[in-house]
Amino acid sequence: MSKKIITVFGATGAQGGGLVRAILNDANSEFSVRAVTRDTTSDKAKALAASGAELVEADVDDKESVLKALEGAYGAYFVTFFWDHFSPDKEFQQAKNFAEAAAAAGIQHAIWSTLEDTRKYISLDDDSMPTLQGQYKVPHFDKKGEADGLFTEAGVPTTFLRTAFYWDNFIYFGSGPQKGPDGRQYLTFPLDDKPMSGIAAEDIGKCAYGVFKKGSVLIGKTVGIAGEHISGQQMADKLSKALGIEIIYNNVTPDTFRAFGFPGADDLGNMFQFYRDFSDEFISIRPISGSRELNPELLDFDGWLAKYAEKIPIQA
Ligand SMILES: NC(=O)c1ccc[n+]([C@@H]2O[C@H](COP(=O)([O-])OP(=O)(O)OC[C@H]3O[C@@H](n4cnc5c(N)ncnc54)[C@H](OP(=O)(O)O)[C@@H]3O)[C@@H](O)[C@H]2O)c1
Repeated sequence: MSKKIITVFGATGAQGGGLVRAILNDANSEFSVRAVTRDTTSDKAKALAASGAELVEADVDDKESVLKALEGAYGAYFVTFFWDHFSPDKEFQQAKNFAEAAAAAGIQHAIWSTLEDTRKYISLDDDSMPTLQGQYKVPHFDKKGEADGLFTEAGVPTTFLRTAFYWDNFIYFGSGPQKGPDGRQYLTFPLDDKPMSGIAAEDIGKCAYGVFKKGSVLIGKTVGIAGEHISGQQMADKLSKALGIEIIYNNVTPDTFRAFGFPGADDLGNMFQFYRDFSDEFISIRPISGSRELNPELLDFDGWLAKYAEKIPIQA
């Protein structure tokens, strides 16, 4: 019997790449992979093809190309790329392209990689967190959450996958320890003593595979995933142990974090404040046991460190 095709957006990236590998590493999978890239000749795309993925060129800004990538597929993994453009409107339009194309292609199971619309928790006129761009609290969360409705309205059978902070940000996103003026290493977040939901980026795709394997059970459901809920102090302690150097947890206020001034610092400062102020709500929809049920190989922070700590850049 021929395998059911899953079209994977972001296949050469973190989330989609994890899903591609999860499917291809399972010799008995009922699914095959159609990996979406803008450039089938890139090294990353060629590596996916060499491991058994079909490649297709599409751009999420071009709805016709999205539709082509979905034709004949059973399922699809939809993720947008906020940090490539920093535009919530663009992200929303991309989600609209996904939803409309998925409906037109008759996709039987979509996974939309989403996050909370934080405006449902904290109103725009609440001054405890600055409103950004006149209409958001956490732009890269809010528009993803708002876009959930696009899939429902288009009648696409969808699982809404609420992801969490990738610990891989310590390697690739500049979120890891930084050397202070005193020469010591500091891990800086505005979390106070609140636990933050984190996950190995690779595990997002593995959990998504678990969602597809469950068939229609999770269609229409919101599924939150995390590898561990862990405080800044605990992360610093575990980093110290794994790296063999002292990492000091530097707790700052969200205002201080927002004022760091790098691109997106205001968005991320609000995000960490949301993690801090709505910790119970954030964590409760991301049960570790449920995430592990979807992905038995789920890593906790120690497990992630055992695999990746040596890649974390440390300024001498
Ligand atoms: N970092 C975190 O902690 C975190 C946590 C939760 C959610 N998120 C969300 O995760 C999303 C990013 O996902 P990711 O980390 O998996 O991305 P990523 O690793 O940056 O990968 C993005 C991939 O998508 C492809 N791509 C980029 N623009 C495209 C376009 N216009 N059309 C088609 N493909 C395009 C690129 O592939 P080609 O070059 O091959 O086309 C690229 O390899 C963001 O929206 C972010 O908000 C991040």
